[in-house]
Amino acid sequence: MQRSLNVETLKKLGKRVRVCGWVNSIRSHGKILFVDLRDRSGLLQAILGTEGRELKPEWVVELTGTIKKRPKGMANAEIETGKVELVVENLKVLSKSKTPPFEITADSRKINEETRLKYRYLDLRTERMKKNLILRHKVVKFMRDFMDENGFIEIETPLLTKSTPEGARDFIVPSRLHPGKFYALPQSPQQYKQLLMVGGVEKYFQIVKCLRDEDPRADRQAEFTQLDMEMSFVEQEDILKLTEKLMNGIAKLIGRKVTWHRLTYAQALKKHKTDKPDLQRNKDELAFCWILDWPLFDWNKEEKRWDPMHHIFTAPQDPNFKDPKTAKSWQHDLVLNGYEIGGGSLRIHTRELQEKIFELVGIPAKESKKKFGHLLRAFEYGAPPHGGIALGIDRLLMFLTNESSIREVMAFPKTGDGRSLMMDTPSKVDKAQLKELHVKTV
Ligand code: AMO
Repeated sequence: MQRSLNVETLKKLGKRVRVCGWVNSIRSHGKILFVDLRDRSGLLQAILGTEGRELKPEWVVELTGTIKKRPKGMANAEIETGKVELVVENLKVLSKSKTPPFEITADSRKINEETRLKYRYLDLRTERMKKNLILRHKVVKFMRDFMDENGFIEIETPLLTKSTPEGARDFIVPSRLHPGKFYALPQSPQQYKQLLMVGGVEKYFQIVKCLRDEDPRADRQAEFTQLDMEMSFVEQEDILKLTEKLMNGIAKLIGRKVTWHRLTYAQALKKHKTDKPDLQRNKDELAFCWILDWPLFDWNKEEKRWDPMHHIFTAPQDPNFKDPKTAKSWQHDLVLNGYEIGGGSLRIHTRELQEKIFELVGIPAKESKKKFGHLLRAFEYGAPPHGGIALGIDRLLMFLTNESSIREVMAFPKTGDGRSLMMDTPSKVDKAQLKELHVKTV
């Protein structure tokens, strides 16, 4: 007999079914046992006799029996299958379970997080975590469909690559075939997406993992996901409009109200004393705010040099600007309820201007050729004007689910100090492996 999902039994009144799942809870009434069976669709009440006596919570079982209407007054409005129950004829234990370190049937937010992360596979069985993962799937699917409908194509870019500075440290990977040389894992696909524009793609997107060696926080992980996009022949307004349409679509999908605001960087600082103003008026609202008209540079007092406000690829509003202090850029940041959830810009697309910026931020010509020669060369072969944005998917989901940490919307996040307690990473590797990689630890 084909396996039925618990919710499907609603339509199978009087029929024999086979259901599978985890023992969620057991209540005993004399010789009768009421077992709530949990599967990915929800709960189903099963009635067993003494054959169910040895069952324990979280055991995996297969139950065969007949679906009956619950007796009058016994319906449970709290669960979707609350009007029916399964009268079990055959019980098969598929897998036993130790007593879990915490209760699966309750919200796990009160449990010590280290324990939750060590036993993440158990935490994922809880209702709230399941809901979060399903919502994440729905939002990401909406994004993918939306980008497709708007003429974008999804292209994968390499993980083994060269440093693309986004303001964090790189994770690096030693090369076995090239002793003493290293790949960098991408902090973002920034340079690749610009090279795709030179490649004539015109509209690119990617749901992509980015890796940044920075200290994790409630809204930050070393490994996170972006909806990354880039387009050619656009003005800044085109990028803003497309992003607004996308966010409005997502808000509609999950039934949330949105408000849109726009501030210049100077206005934000003057009015709100921050470039990430929280304009939310009630807790259900998603208050989006664009921050525009950014300065191109930020003065680095310690190093005594200009740092790019966004990144070195962002275009100045006036390509012939003279004074780095007053130069404005085409940067756009998207703030949601006081957190930055996206950032992007129109880009530089000529070699001359890109070299001028490298020089201003203190990258000498020799070094910029070595580090960014590929991009400078590409700009000499007909680079279209282009721009884009990247949205932090984890951070966005944190607001859509009203969670207080991005770890609650990621299946396998790392701890505050970048470890996986479940997999025990980072971990030591064999001496032989290090030797092969030409690496010595000190
Ligand atoms: P940026 O560095 O602003 O831009 O990143 C874009 C968005 O990614 C999210 N984000 C993070 N989320 C979780 N953990 C982190 N450590 C983390 N770092 C960033 C934020 C942020 O707004 N290449 C450019 C985009 C572009 O110019 O098109 C970039 O990566 O929500």
